[in-house]
Amino acid sequence: MNEYDSERIAGILSSLSMKRAENGEIPDIYIVNTCAVREKSEEKLFSFLGRIKELKKKKRVIIGVTGCVSQVEREKIFQRAPYVDFVLGPHAYKEIPRILEEIEKKEKVIDVRWRKEYQEIEKGPLRESPFSAYITVMEGCNKFCSFCIVPFARGREISRSMENILKEAKELAEKGYKEIQFLGQNIDAYKDPDSGAGLAELLKKASEIEGIEWIRFITSHPKDIDEKFILSIKELEKVTKYIHLPAQAGSNSVLERMRRGYTREEFIEKVNMIRSHIPNISIGTDIIVGFPGETEEEFEDTLRLLEEVRFDNLYSFKYSPRKGTLASRMKDDVPKQVKIERLIKVQELQKRIQLEKNKSFVGKIIKVLVTGSSKKDPSIYAGRDEGNRVVNFRASKNLMGEFAQVFIEEGTPHSLKGVWVEDKV
Ligand code: 5AD
Ligand code: SF4
Repeated sequence: MNEYDSERIAGILSSLSMKRAENGEIPDIYIVNTCAVREKSEEKLFSFLGRIKELKKKKRVIIGVTGCVSQVEREKIFQRAPYVDFVLGPHAYKEIPRILEEIEKKEKVIDVRWRKEYQEIEKGPLRESPFSAYITVMEGCNKFCSFCIVPFARGREISRSMENILKEAKELAEKGYKEIQFLGQNIDAYKDPDSGAGLAELLKKASEIEGIEWIRFITSHPKDIDEKFILSIKELEKVTKYIHLPAQAGSNSVLERMRRGYTREEFIEKVNMIRSHIPNISIGTDIIVGFPGETEEEFEDTLRLLEEVRFDNLYSFKYSPRKGTLASRMKDDVPKQVKIERLIKVQELQKRIQLEKNKSFVGKIIKVLVTGSSKKDPSIYAGRDEGNRVVNFRASKNLMGEFAQVFIEEGTPHSLKGVWVEDKV
């Protein structure tokens, strides 16, 4: 979502007749869009700011900090980095034109007010990819998992109007985009503010847009995703058969301390329900290791969950206390070294599972949206399949931005390798 927001901010700036600075050029305005989900990303902000501060010695550069760190740290950013000119939370980007005017007269500007509605920007985002586009459909979260800063950094759930979402998707189709990715921290909570329609309806309407061939959606919540929804996306051919379903942990006591609202058994039941209707669906997850009080046994329950479910991909994180969250009042008592060891165990196990799964694709032909090519060898292309698997393959023709049928020759833990079917001898 931050990437999409950065593209929106770039869109706002370009509507003010500004253009992206070239690499190496010192810009007039430098905006750092931030993530607060873990402490590490927050620390990165300050080291990064320290570096760009030097630019101010060479010319007048306006430095702005936007995003979730702005929202939670507010004025403290000015204290730690006094050379920052403005601080904006995720609801304030629309104000950028006014703020840039104000900054001419005032020394510092801050806007971290919450708005009740999604803040539409007039001109669309200035996108990075010409083939695949993010579209936020809802932002914020009402769930308050004990470790998570999102409800504080992004605010409560706000859904964007379906009309505006579909308008954006149609414009993308007209520009030749093949894939759209609907975003929301808790996307099952999507509810059109005008009609009350939910995510299934939105996906159905988006499927009717000619030109768009793949529609992705992230992130689903294990508590909220239901059979009716699965049955409706099963019928929608353009909706990719990938679900991101963060488990976070495999132990009931940890899940309870995390306030996730489901048990290990309920999580597995959801996975089984999803797979019973769409057997080839790909399921990804997020795991946190070293949550306060996590014992060796509790951690092993997580490993057992991974063995049992066999996810198709997994993002894993060391628990990082976030100010203001419920868990930050619990003792962060799992030693750093133990967190690292547990993270490695999770990753090693998942690597083995993914290798086994990816090997089973050898000899098969799969459809890939091609979005990149290798710098070293431009005849090697990269893309993703419907299940969000990375696919690298050789092709004798420039296939950028197109769908390609790829014959898989090798499965590695993190990707599939192969050759364009038309080049297969
Ligand atoms: N510490 C570590 N990981 C976290 N995540 C969210 N909050 C924290 C935290 N405090 C992870 C969760 C979430 C993903 C986006 O980031 O796994 O699903
Ligand atoms: Fe954070 Fe997701 Fe929990 Fe919401 S549901 S509080 S975004 S982890």
